[in-house]
Amino acid sequence: MTSDPRDLPPELACLHAGLPGGEAETPFGIPPVFASTYHLQGDAAGAIFPYGRNANPTWMALEEALGALEGGEAVLFPSGMAAASAALTPFLQPGDRVLLPKDGYHAVRYYAETFLARYGVVVEKRPTRGLEETDLKGYRIVWVETPSNPGLELCDVAAVAEKVHKAGNLLVCDNTTMTPLGQRCLELGADLVIASDTKAVNGHSDVLMGHVAGRDSALLEAVRQWRTLSGSIPGAMEAWLCHRGLQTLELRFERMCASAQAVAERFAGHAALEALSYPGLPGHPGHDLARRQMRRFGSLVSLTFPERETALAFEDRLTLIFKATSFGGTHSSIDWRWRWDDTVHPGLLRLSVGCEPTEALLADLEQAFAAL
Ligand SMILES: Cc1ncc(COP(=O)(O)O)c(C=O)c1O
Repeated sequence: MTSDPRDLPPELACLHAGLPGGEAETPFGIPPVFASTYHLQGDAAGAIFPYGRNANPTWMALEEALGALEGGEAVLFPSGMAAASAALTPFLQPGDRVLLPKDGYHAVRYYAETFLARYGVVVEKRPTRGLEETDLKGYRIVWVETPSNPGLELCDVAAVAEKVHKAGNLLVCDNTTMTPLGQRCLELGADLVIASDTKAVNGHSDVLMGHVAGRDSALLEAVRQWRTLSGSIPGAMEAWLCHRGLQTLELRFERMCASAQAVAERFAGHAALEALSYPGLPGHPGHDLARRQMRRFGSLVSLTFPERETALAFEDRLTLIFKATSFGGTHSSIDWRWRWDDTVHPGLLRLSVGCEPTEALLADLEQAFAAL
């Protein structure tokens, strides 16, 4: 095995990064859950493990794996939103402007507008599609989410990074919908990448987790300091479970993306739909960009029915696909997004394609369309 986990290709890092060295009679898999605080003597300066809020070996094993996958260093958080707030809050001051995606995950906007705005940060929003063509000067942080949840719109991360860096500012990329196996945001130029590992990284719909990753040690130090001082720390057991889930990410994501492509191809243009969005379809407005920027096309497909009633009737007809709001798990699920965010089309359903046999999924969707 390579000694530096960052040298491992991402597909192998899922399985091998963050494991102990392989000496005889040491743990074979993910190291056991470390659930304790620490003895401490003398000065705490320089101690890696002074107190349970500073560091934990179980987090660190998963951070090593996620860092290897991202091509940088990762800092673990107890949810995607904890990671998102850690990538915003320490870097903003009263009067700073921050640019968020108008069509991205709603809670990030809600956090910024509820709390950051209260402390004098000016929060602005723009659509994801075409962001790279707009003027991005004057924003301390530009936040992108591509493909966006739930509309699956794309923007050109490298082109945005170039503009943001020219102005001396920071680009943060929320890569939840793609995972580092589907898109490598640090390589594309993001200063920080965040993700909800609650989704495909853990993949079993039983843990909330998140991480921030980057390459700049000063930025990462600020993120770690935020975690220690705000107390936004993951549980050791949850970190262990998430690391266990990560090991099969490549297998799961491969099946999920292949099935999502099959679903998109089968139902694009269906008479009952107003639109179907999937970056892997040649007709998607960001398809060429997706081919350049992404390593896979993702496991989410957005189905837009002309009316909310039809969308709700459709999801009621599904028998295999669960109605649930999280995504990225082994089980396929579907969510009517308007209930969370009334800026989206009221007929939009976001389908998260899971690991079931592709034909079984197609059959369930087929019968739900037929029953409308
Ligand atoms: C794109 C995106 N970012 C962040 C989050 C927040 O993640 P969590 O629910 O783990 O806090 C989500 C959750 O759905 C998401 O979809």
